[in-house]
Amino acid sequence: MASTVATTRNALKNYASLILTLDNVKSGLFYYLILLHAIKAKRHLQARGITTTAKEIYLWVSQQVIRLILRLPSTRKKVESQMGAAKLDIENKLVPKGANVTRHLSLPSDGKSLEWILAEMDKMDTEMGGSVDSWKQGKLSGAVYHGGEELSKIIVAAYERYCVSNPLHPDVFPAVRKMEAEIVAMCLKMYRGPEGSAGVMTSGGTESIIMAVKTHRDWARATKGITEPEMIVPSTAHAAFDKGGAYLGIKVHTIPIDPYTRKVNIKHVKRAINPNTIMLVGSCINFPDGNQEDIEALGALAKKYNVGLHVDCCLGSFVVPFLEPAGLAQGDSKGRYKLTPFDFTVEGVTSISCDTHKYGFAPKGTSVVMYRSAELRRFQYYVNPTWPGGVYASPGLSGSRPGALIAGCWAVMQHMGTAGYLDSCRDIVKAARTIADAITDDIPELYVLGSPPASVVAFASKHPNVDALEVGDAMGNRGWHLNGLSEPKSVHIACTRLTIQVVDQFIADLKDSVREAKLSPSGKGTMVSVYGLGNSSAVGPEMVSQLASSFLDALYKA
Ligand SMILES: *Cc1c(COP(=O)(O)O)cnc(C)c1O
Ligand SMILES: *[C@@H]1O[C@H](CO)[C@@H](O)[C@H](O)[C@H]1NC(C)=O
Repeated sequence: MASTVATTRNALKNYASLILTLDNVKSGLFYYLILLHAIKAKRHLQARGITTTAKEIYLWVSQQVIRLILRLPSTRKKVESQMGAAKLDIENKLVPKGANVTRHLSLPSDGKSLEWILAEMDKMDTEMGGSVDSWKQGKLSGAVYHGGEELSKIIVAAYERYCVSNPLHPDVFPAVRKMEAEIVAMCLKMYRGPEGSAGVMTSGGTESIIMAVKTHRDWARATKGITEPEMIVPSTAHAAFDKGGAYLGIKVHTIPIDPYTRKVNIKHVKRAINPNTIMLVGSCINFPDGNQEDIEALGALAKKYNVGLHVDCCLGSFVVPFLEPAGLAQGDSKGRYKLTPFDFTVEGVTSISCDTHKYGFAPKGTSVVMYRSAELRRFQYYVNPTWPGGVYASPGLSGSRPGALIAGCWAVMQHMGTAGYLDSCRDIVKAARTIADAITDDIPELYVLGSPPASVVAFASKHPNVDALEVGDAMGNRGWHLNGLSEPKSVHIACTRLTIQVVDQFIADLKDSVREAKLSPSGKGTMVSVYGLGNSSAVGPEMVSQLASSFLDALYKA
């Protein structure tokens, strides 16, 4: 009897201690999770600062409130009808209507001749109210990086010759493999890659950037065990970095830039670095306002904390490496437009993207991403040794690739040569600086953002009665296709070879447009804020995203 009691008591004791340890484990786990979240929150706060975090929280809360309000039957109806009207407006602008429009919605039963095809393309061009070469007037920002009639002929000839080639099969197309390797080698030379540096060709700047992000993510996982990767990106860097972050599951810390220099605050970048950081980003030059980051300062940080540094030269491409030999790197006599070091000679730079299809004048669909070492490039590769289709290995996102575009790119680079790119750099940058000088010296209502060293010039208003976006609208009425920007409201032009012939007209039109915007302000300035919905108000992002998706839908309306 006594022994039964003892056993029971023992069992109970054991049970109690088991519960106790379970409880311990539970609370331990609880505190561990709290700690994890606390570390995350601390890092978040550190990276974004208290004001920005407070703003983020405010924005998030107000968005939820607005979402709720939008769900109320009365508001929902109103919003739906307005969104419907806006959607229709987008469609009407993009998709031709009317009984006269021929639509090709299924395969023709019998194949058509080349004559028929070309005639049909003619018809489509006129139906759509454009002409295939309206861009030749040159009244547009970027978009067409045209190297001249001669280059078009060279691209077409190269394309024709390698029309069916595919570098996925180097045994069948050995010449294409060689051309691709040589394009990468030539770019590495331009960007002064050290011994052992390496690169890959991609379909464009976005793919180059996403590949560089993936490479750094996999490098950080392999060498430092980072499983919750973060990267630090200046707010003026290209959206491709956010896109890469979204695709690859990487937290992006966007760091604001100094409104005067248009460069990222280095102290702020430093504060955002933590053990999960895989890479920093700097542009040379950035898309919005054409300024460059202080790559040397970013490189020093990257080196100190052993993280990557990608320099986005997608736009700088074949202009920034030629500024120094063209005698333009030191800027003008007033200390404006100076270029600071940006390539592999800067310690800490681990990768660079360069778009051959921008100022390289190569056919669209070509870009190069470069790495400081071939070992780092390895992290970009995808290899599957067990696929039933055979050992599968590809360097980038694509499988099959257009060898014809590689041939076109190679041909253009051979035809241009150093002398050709030096000339184009000189002409384009002079055009940009003439425009920037005119804005600074002759148009008191406007100012140039930062001190852009290369081909892009952005202007904002410093006059209370002049809205920069209205100036952009007025330029639009004069036939110019420019880009509108936010923060601050501004407009930019990316000068190309097409701009060179219309610099004086641009300046004259800009003066007229400023006068017009000042005399009769419309109060709209529709250039960026799609249908009057800004992207900074709480209601903005949600609605603008919906409209932007409607725009994408409309692109696929036959
Ligand atoms: C154009 C551009 C990119 C992206 O290039 P795509 O070829 O359009 O994909 C990236 N960064 C900068 C600064 C650019 O201007
Ligand atoms: C349709 O085409 C005819 C003949 O090409 C033309 O006369 C007419 O104006 C067109 N109608 C519309 C609505 O575009």
